[in-house]
Amino acid sequence: MHYLRLGLFALAGFVFPAHAAELSSSVPLEVEQPAYQTPWQRYGNWPQGDWSGYNTLNNPQTSPAPPPVGKLQAVQEPITGDADKGKKLVADRKRGGSCFACHAMPDASLAGNVGPEFFNIGSWGRSDTHLYNYIYDPRAFNPDAVMPPWGAHGVFSQQEIFDIVAYLKTLTGEGSYPDSMENPFTRPVPVENRDNLDVFENPGMMGEELGQTLYQKAGENGKSCADCHDKPVQQFKTWATTMPKFDLRLNKMLGIEEFVTRHARATMDTDYLMQSEQNTGLAIYLRYLANGEPIAVDTSDPNTQAALARGEALGKVKIGQLNFACVDCHEFGAERWIRGQYLSGVEGMIPHFPTYRTSRAEIWDIRKRLQWCGVAIRANELPPDAAEYGDIELYLTAKNNGKSFDVPGIRH
Ligand code: HEC
Ligand code: HEC
Ligand code: HEC
Repeated sequence: MHYLRLGLFALAGFVFPAHAAELSSSVPLEVEQPAYQTPWQRYGNWPQGDWSGYNTLNNPQTSPAPPPVGKLQAVQEPITGDADKGKKLVADRKRGGSCFACHAMPDASLAGNVGPEFFNIGSWGRSDTHLYNYIYDPRAFNPDAVMPPWGAHGVFSQQEIFDIVAYLKTLTGEGSYPDSMENPFTRPVPVENRDNLDVFENPGMMGEELGQTLYQKAGENGKSCADCHDKPVQQFKTWATTMPKFDLRLNKMLGIEEFVTRHARATMDTDYLMQSEQNTGLAIYLRYLANGEPIAVDTSDPNTQAALARGEALGKVKIGQLNFACVDCHEFGAERWIRGQYLSGVEGMIPHFPTYRTSRAEIWDIRKRLQWCGVAIRANELPPDAAEYGDIELYLTAKNNGKSFDVPGIRH
């Protein structure tokens, strides 16, 4: 494919007057093709469910409608359920991570504390109707409930919820945590103190080396980045701190990774697809050059303002079979435990991306992290260059303005 032609076309084409905060239309970009491998396919080693019956970030009207507040299903009191089966179900991690993810109960391992402790829920005086309906769909009580609608979204059948209610009713004891590690209120918070830039500690530094090498390497048309920008250390000392930027040609926010794909196509006739090793390497290198510099996205122009507002709103959209919004985990849940994972707030999320993940032995760019947070709650992900991810990336980056880049990062 001859991207160069498109690039020259873009160069020669009509030059829009861009606001300072936007990407200048004189920067060569290929703007016709997707920036990822098409058709987009989820990674083979990720959960493979198809959750197209539920909301996604770009299709937020798909999930079944929630019940009106106060509209409870009638169930026969007392309900008939098998408490032994219920005990297994609350611990079944294949069913949306289990109830232990958020509620402490007897025999839980690494319980989370996003929801209340249930050691003695059986003596709270809740009716069976209340317990059944809360589990079936908590939005009948609280439209903003953080808990998934287990019954309404088909994770548990009616009989299984009866079994769970029967088990919860047996929990009348004092109950306590076996030790301070099991107690999410005393469990030590993870501290990441590995040195990002130490090649022996952070395999992410291999990405930086690859990026630096590719910067010098000639593309399909014989040109390299270095041919056109021969002093990257000076020229790009702060560039990465200004991204993402709104691009008028694409009519969306453009992050560093997508910029690399589209700019390399236009200037080198070379295809560094988003989330390829090469793309991530170059994206790391461009941020590495800005390490220590404070993030400084400029949101002053109207297009970026609008994207920022969209990004904030997207953070509140409930998606997936488990029906979570970003804010459920990263605002309401921030600094609490969801099972063994300590949830972070939005501050500090951006400066270390792309990040090496020791648990997966891979370097992830920010878009891959956003895709994963969707798949983990059973929401179909969007392709990496989706405009919605650009809006969210802008929102998160603006929240990190002033924090210094420290790339590549390393995390669990
Ligand atoms: C993501 C966290 C999360 C998970 C997972 C979760 N819950 Fe909850 N749950 C909550 C929160 C938070 C509340 C508090 C009320 C609210 O948000 O509306 C709650 C409330 C409840 C209540 C109502 C308690 C009361 O005051 O009457 C019940 C019952 C309940 N959960 C049962 C379950 C069961 C059973 C499971 C597993 C099938 C489960 N929860 C999994 C977060 C969670
Ligand atoms: C054929 C020449 C050419 C090649 C090859 C080239 N660029 Fe560029 N680049 C340009 C031009 C022209 C501009 C716009 C004017 C300027 O900012 O210098 C630009 C702008 C940029 C910018 C600044 C964008 C902004 O926000 O203003 C960055 C960063 C950049 N290039 C990085 C790279 C990288 C990384 C590569 C290799 C993957 C590369 N360039 C390859 C010509 C080139
Ligand atoms: C069910 C809970 C849950 C939801 C919902 C969720 N995430 Fe996450 N997210 C996690 C967990 C767990 C981690 C890893 C621990 C941490 O850093 O918080 C994480 C990590 C992240 C990180 C990396 C943080 C870092 O510093 O490395 C980003 C960025 C992120 N999430 C963004 C989002 C966005 C944006 C959304 C909404 C589209 C979202 N998440 C929805 C659970 C969630």
